[in-house]
Amino acid sequence: MIFVTGNSNKLEEAKRYLKPLGMEVEQMMIDGSIPELIEPQFDDLEKIAIFKADQAIAMIPESEKSDCAILVEDSGLFIDSLNGFPGSYSSFVFRKIGVDGILRLMSGKSMKGCEYRAVSVLVIGGRTIIAKGICRGNISEEISGTGGFGYDPIFIPEDSDGRTFAQMTKEEKSSISHRGKSLKALCEAISSPSM
Ligand code: IMP
Repeated sequence: MIFVTGNSNKLEEAKRYLKPLGMEVEQMMIDGSIPELIEPQFDDLEKIAIFKADQAIAMIPESEKSDCAILVEDSGLFIDSLNGFPGSYSSFVFRKIGVDGILRLMSGKSMKGCEYRAVSVLVIGGRTIIAKGICRGNISEEISGTGGFGYDPIFIPEDSDGRTFAQMTKEEKSSISHRGKSLKALCEAISSPSM
């Protein structure tokens, strides 16, 4: 699988998750560089992932297209009391205000519910497979932990013991994460008899 991403954390999580299932993941490179893709301003993660997959496919020489499996993933943090903000703008918002900014927006709010969502799109042999994963959780009161990336130090998953994703091992995170779930769904779709 060729993963179209500039995010080394996402790449590492996908490799870690898919390797035991017998799938090798490589980062997409064109002439030795990570291709620059346009990040469209849609609210819908699926639309963004498909838009990016189309751009990546267009960069592959015609003769190699049928042999490729191109993976694109789009994800974000959706906070209930902020009407889903930052959602599909998570990457931009993280760069601008970081986890401190999100904690400021959440101060005084009693409802801390949120979810990470991931949409994985795999283009293989002319077919497009779309798989989704959601991980429900709560925004913490303070930053905790040094692992993971992005919003992990303030995200406490529901299916756990109160630690943030940043306090967990990589294996613990991927066993319950949105990304792990979307990749699991993708693997199930690939290995289904109709493929
Ligand atoms: P994009 O999918 O490249 O647009 O980026 C998604 C953004 O959502 C990341 O840059 C992070 O800020 C955030 N995000 C998505 N998944 C995770 C995760 O597993 N941990 C922490 N932040 C995440």
